[in-house]
Amino acid sequence: MQISPSILSADFANLETELQRISNADWAHVDVMDGHFVPNLTLGLPVVEALQKVSPIPLDCHLMIEDPDRWAPSYAEAGAQSVTFHIEAAKDPVTLARALRAAGARASMAVKPGTDFAPYADLLPELDMVLVMTVEPGFGGQSFMADQMPKVRQVREAVARHGGEVWIQVDGGVSATTIEQCAEAGADVFVAGSAVYGADDAAAAVDELRALAQQ
Ligand code: DX5
Ligand code: ZN
Repeated sequence: MQISPSILSADFANLETELQRISNADWAHVDVMDGHFVPNLTLGLPVVEALQKVSPIPLDCHLMIEDPDRWAPSYAEAGAQSVTFHIEAAKDPVTLARALRAAGARASMAVKPGTDFAPYADLLPELDMVLVMTVEPGFGGQSFMADQMPKVRQVREAVARHGGEVWIQVDGGVSATTIEQCAEAGADVFVAGSAVYGADDAAAAVDELRALAQQ
């Protein structure tokens, strides 16, 4: 069970300090938004390169961008140890996933709430993680969509059939009140933005979420 706090809810003027607040987490989740794939704009490659140099924990880059085929491998080359592209935006996901692995990153595919997983189950051998979105991507602080839990179960069953070790991540509205149902459905990597950075003690929030997920 791994916790990946989203720095989308951190203080963008002090990201190095904000990363130190979550040094007990497994990953730092970095939401890259391009203002096209989602109606919000956050940060891009130069900021990821800078974060990578000062982060005490590996970076988990979630790319909410158009044309990930062109841009995602650069995030792996910049040192992100996990890179997630959206299947809705990818043109050639097999080639893309192989390029991410060749660049030394874990390759991960995300599905939006309205996107079925089943048509993409054959991609599992190319993947190290599947991200099941539990909000519409674009903004932090939205309400958790419990109706995505059947999809998490479906991915877990497909991973069991496939036999490999593919992690399942949930992202959006994950908190102390929603994390247990995600774990019960089969998720094992949990992104939490507002639930961690909204807490006075972010590290304690990480520990609490991990403990709840492990129950
Ligand atoms: C939403 C982002 C999430 C977001 C989660 O598009 O992908 O990572 O930061 O924030 P919370 O945990 O507040 O829903
Ligand atoms: Zn995210």
